[in-house]
Amino acid sequence: MKPDLSDTEIHTIREGIRHKYTQVATQSDAGGSFQYPTGREGMRQQGYPMELVQDLPEAVLQAFCGVGNPFSLGPIRPGETVLDIGCGAGVDTLIAARLVGPTGRVAGVDATPEMIARARANLVLAGLTNVSFEIAAAEALPFPDREFDVVISNGVINLTVDKEQALREVQRVLKRGGRLMVADMVLVTELPGDQAGKVENWFQ
Ligand SMILES: C[S@@+](CC[C@H](N)C(=O)[O-])C[C@H]1O[C@@H](n2cnc3c(N)ncnc32)[C@H](O)[C@@H]1O
Repeated sequence: MKPDLSDTEIHTIREGIRHKYTQVATQSDAGGSFQYPTGREGMRQQGYPMELVQDLPEAVLQAFCGVGNPFSLGPIRPGETVLDIGCGAGVDTLIAARLVGPTGRVAGVDATPEMIARARANLVLAGLTNVSFEIAAAEALPFPDREFDVVISNGVINLTVDKEQALREVQRVLKRGGRLMVADMVLVTELPGDQAGKVENWFQ
């Protein structure tokens, strides 16, 4: 179910998100664009096990702008297939690739082309071969049914206009018994009157 938004508002939201993350993708450091800690320090504060992170190149870690730690929600095992939805510059994707090892496979998708370009550059820096990145929206995943053991996502579902469709897609691409491990932001109270309904809140 889409929220009560006009087509013009939906267009403004999607363009605003794309513009913001194009800027983030093309800066060396995500830091200035967020009201929460990003990069290596963000990962430390969100409880990422530093042994998973420490030997990834600094240029890779700088691009992290997740809002939590999906890996805290359960194990990812050698040999599994994993999809990272809204992978951004691919930091979680690369961590998942290390966890599944050479017998596993990981895919990352993101709606912002410049993020996928950054993720592909990060993949070269990390020197892993069991990873692929594609430009795609959470609401239309370019994968067959029942392809993945695990879907991870970090700070993305809140940015999708049609959340039910995004979750239907997750259900479609997960194998029976597959796991969804999501970190995200939710509103826990009404916004003040002067903020409610402002489309800019989607991408500030
Ligand atoms: C807060 S960043 C998080 C990036 C990454 N998960 C991380 O932890 O560093 C949100 C990402 O979601 C992507 N995004 C926004 N809306 C999307 C959508 N509908 N489908 C796929 N990706 C989307 C943005 O391009 C951006 O890269």
